[in-house]
Amino acid sequence: MGLGTFWGISAGAGDPEWLTLKAVRVLQAVNWVACPQNAAGQPGLAYQIVRPWLQPGQTLLPLPLPFVTQPELLQAAWEAAAEQLAPLLEQGEDVAFVCEGDVGLYSTFAYLAQALRQRLPDLPIQVVPGVCSPLAAAAALGSPLALGPEKLAILPALFALAELEEACAWAEVVVLMKVASVYPQVWQWLAEKGWLQRASLVVWAGWPQQALFPTLDGLADYRPPYFSLLILWPQNRSSPRVADLPKGS
Ligand SMILES: C[S@@+](CC[C@H](N)C(=O)[O-])C[C@H]1O[C@@H](n2cnc3c(N)ncnc32)[C@H](O)[C@@H]1O
Repeated sequence: MGLGTFWGISAGAGDPEWLTLKAVRVLQAVNWVACPQNAAGQPGLAYQIVRPWLQPGQTLLPLPLPFVTQPELLQAAWEAAAEQLAPLLEQGEDVAFVCEGDVGLYSTFAYLAQALRQRLPDLPIQVVPGVCSPLAAAAALGSPLALGPEKLAILPALFALAELEEACAWAEVVVLMKVASVYPQVWQWLAEKGWLQRASLVVWAGWPQQALFPTLDGLADYRPPYFSLLILWPQNRSSPRVADLPKGS
């Protein structure tokens, strides 16, 4: 019997209607749906997003993939998850692993796929792309993310303000993911530059609790949650915001 296929399914950044038709088709065709667990050991956000599309009789496999940075802990988690999934794939079963946002943007999918390929070198792996959080956030703000010749920089996290300075010298649009942990320092830096009105913050894009802050004025004491990102237009782009376009007659 041949190996099953390991699918990376992008669940999109929040709204279940952001799943692509292909993501839904594949999700509904497999018997096994794997997803990251949350810190409480329950099926995590990706599962919450895809839940409306799942079918009775499908088996959910929540995998403990902790939010840690230590390489040895991460490696051990990917190995353990691969050990759990490999026997199913060896039996010819297809497995869909769902991830929040796009599976190709700062996601665990690639590490898990690699751990599986080490066990099963001929494993077929397929990826379904989806709505990533920078694009979801720009849409929520009613603004194009990048236009014409603008260069776009996406920083996965910020370890030093010098990195932000460097990105702003190069790009016309800078996206700061995982901004929560450095928000007070970033706000202060923007305030010193007089750039609070050039930055927007989007919290929980696509979720019922979504919050939009088109500028950072007055938000010194705000503490955003982990699912927040900041978009900065350092050159003060006067881009057309969809919300501001003249209405057709
Ligand atoms: C590990 S990354 C995952 C990115 C995801 N794979 C994607 O395609 O957007 C987690 C970070 O993405 C951002 N993020 C993901 N979903 C978000 C959402 N719905 N609203 C705002 N930020 C989000 C936050 O900055 C969060 O700290």
